Amino acid sequence: MKQLITLITTLLLATVSVSSDAYENACKQFNGQIQIFRPQGLKIAAKHVSRNLLSIEVEVYINQEQRSNPTCDICANATVTGGRRKRFQIYHPSIVVLPGDRFQYTVTKRYRNGPPRQLSCEFRVNGERMLFSRPTQTRSCEENISTKNKGRQLNYIAEKRLLEETINEMLSSCEAADTTSMLILSGDYADMELTNELKSFIINRLRSHLPSVDWHGEVEDVYRTNGRLVFTVKTTLMKLKVLHLVRGTAVEAIVTDYDKQDRTTYDHEDYFDEDYGEPEIRTVKMSGKIRLLATIALMWLVAASCLLESVDARKSRGSSKRSSRRPKGVNIEIYHPKGVMVWYPYRSGMELFGIEIFINKANQQTGDSSEEDSTPPVCDICLNTTEVSYGKFILRSENAVIRNRDHVYYNAIVKKANGKAYISRSNEFYVSESRILLGDVTGTASACGGNTAVANLSDNDKRLANEIKLLEEILLEVNDQCHAGEQNRTKQLLLSAETPTRYDAKQLYQYVEEQLAQKLPTIDWNRTLVEAFYATDGIGFEVATTIDKLKVLKLAKALPQQPITDLDSFQTEDMTNDIDSWM
Ligand SMILES: *[C@@H]1O[C@H](CO)[C@@H](O)[C@H](O)[C@H]1NC(C)=O
Ligand SMILES: *[C@@H]1O[C@H](CO)[C@@H](O)[C@H](O)[C@H]1NC(C)=O
Ligand SMILES: *[C@@H]1O[C@H](CO)[C@@H](O)[C@H](O)[C@H]1NC(C)=O
Ligand SMILES: *[C@@H]1O[C@H](CO)[C@@H](O)[C@H](O)[C@H]1NC(C)=O
Ligand SMILES: *[C@@H]1O[C@H](CO)[C@@H](O)[C@H](O)[C@H]1NC(C)=O
Ligand SMILES: *[C@@H]1O[C@H](CO)[C@@H](O)[C@H](O)[C@H]1NC(C)=O
Repeated sequence: MKQLITLITTLLLATVSVSSDAYENACKQFNGQIQIFRPQGLKIAAKHVSRNLLSIEVEVYINQEQRSNPTCDICANATVTGGRRKRFQIYHPSIVVLPGDRFQYTVTKRYRNGPPRQLSCEFRVNGERMLFSRPTQTRSCEENISTKNKGRQLNYIAEKRLLEETINEMLSSCEAADTTSMLILSGDYADMELTNELKSFIINRLRSHLPSVDWHGEVEDVYRTNGRLVFTVKTTLMKLKVLHLVRGTAVEAIVTDYDKQDRTTYDHEDYFDEDYGEPEIRTVKMSGKIRLLATIALMWLVAASCLLESVDARKSRGSSKRSSRRPKGVNIEIYHPKGVMVWYPYRSGMELFGIEIFINKANQQTGDSSEEDSTPPVCDICLNTTEVSYGKFILRSENAVIRNRDHVYYNAIVKKANGKAYISRSNEFYVSESRILLGDVTGTASACGGNTAVANLSDNDKRLANEIKLLEEILLEVNDQCHAGEQNRTKQLLLSAETPTRYDAKQLYQYVEEQLAQKLPTIDWNRTLVEAFYATDGIGFEVATTIDKLKVLKLAKALPQQPITDLDSFQTEDMTNDIDSWM
């Protein structure tokens, strides 16, 4: 009965909120087809589009919200090709899109029948969701780089439980997140009357499409409403798992989220040919091996389709003049085994940006009077540019090598038109393992040659590892839903602690690592902690990924006196960099 009331309420709510959500979801859907690569390159591709779709025109604008007459950085027309399964692809190998960039685009779809449709969307690029040009090899490198530190084995079971608890906690605490466990199944069941009959129909059908799930234990209530077959699974988390598993496959059109059913009203036919949903769809019995491969391919699809953190579905480009928060200051990316890329966002009036990097040698030239005669150190990496590419100054040194545990000092040089060069000194950071990117800064080769040795996992661990990957995707998505529209989220946390004296970047990093390892020993801090910095009321620190942050916060709840908290809930200003105060 309670279920039924929920069902009816949701139904009513769903019909009211159709149109604005639909546009936003259309943006989300299209966003999922955009892949941004490190260190450069962009691909827009879709595998199933409507047979009615003829061509697609895409205009992409990077960081052009301030420009009075923006010109598209990518202006491309793609024709839809393919036989029964139509697809299109746009590939731009040289565009440089970087974390924090404002990505705006307009898509025009032309159809065989009917008027064209246009969609304008924008989002801020999230570095975490960017891909390397060679993803599989990157993974094996990752294993490689840390084998020397590999005293600990990941405890997959504990990891999985932690993720599930974190997701469940978030689902129950966050209003914006999905809360029902209802799904819709399409198919031919018109002549069935009995609930039991419907239930076994659902179970059989689901089993044929998703054999990995124990459907008997999962499917609970079954309803027929508005000509749709609705069923609930045991938990909301289970529902999210199912939805993630089917994403990017033909089953996506058969099993859909009850909470999102209105999405299809906007452009259903662009993504799902009606006939994908019909019973004649061929479900070849897969052998175990093929099934495994399919699952792996699926995981990649899932990973590839979630590039974006917050999606603002604004109807027209440039309609919002609200200042968007950009990553402040100087960005330095270190690649393994070599290569350094530095960039700085363009601001109007800026004419030059430069960098002087000193590796393991302090560059402080405190006051010009005292030590005139002592020769200052020479920078190891010294670069300037006046060229603005895609809304930023980009500097690259392909052969520069910065290693794990180096102590880096740098001067950033900024020059305004008709002004003097301003040099911001005494910036420094410690190179933690988690700060290093695995890939080639030129984008032409991969970091680790053909070496594909991956740690030997038992089948059970492999299965758990896949499930963990899936849970991480779900956690990120729920987290995004929960904090939609908050522009100020970082990967920073606050540790309540005080150093005996003022430490430099390296000392502070090591101090914080030690403190954290004492408090939360199950976390591999060498791979998690990116940097530490002084903050009001303690020491701020940044972790490698949003998942890491959520896990740390979850684990920290159990600690006495709450020594670790989310820095986003206090801090308004990013204090890791001072160059902005001059700009
Ligand atoms: C794409 O097609 C539209 C209209 O069909 C045309 O106006 C535009 O110039 C084309 N753009 C490119 C890059 O070919
Ligand atoms: C983490 O790195 C430090 C050196 O910075 C090393 O001494 C320590 O053994 C590493 N810990 C693990 C668990 O790899
Ligand atoms: C970069 O520009 C600054 C300021 O104009 C200058 O002092 C410096 O020598 C330049 N460095 C290089 C490598 O050209
Ligand atoms: C990976 O390990 C092999 C053998 O231990 C080594 O030769 C290779 O240089 C390593 N690759 C990287 C990127 O560390
Ligand atoms: C991985 O397992 C296979 C077979 O189980 C074995 O032949 C191989 O030597 C193992 N590799 C490593 C690096 O342990
Ligand atoms: C971050 O954004 C949220 C929502 O936009 C706001 O409530 C919060 O106060 C902001 N926090 C800071 C520190 O600006």
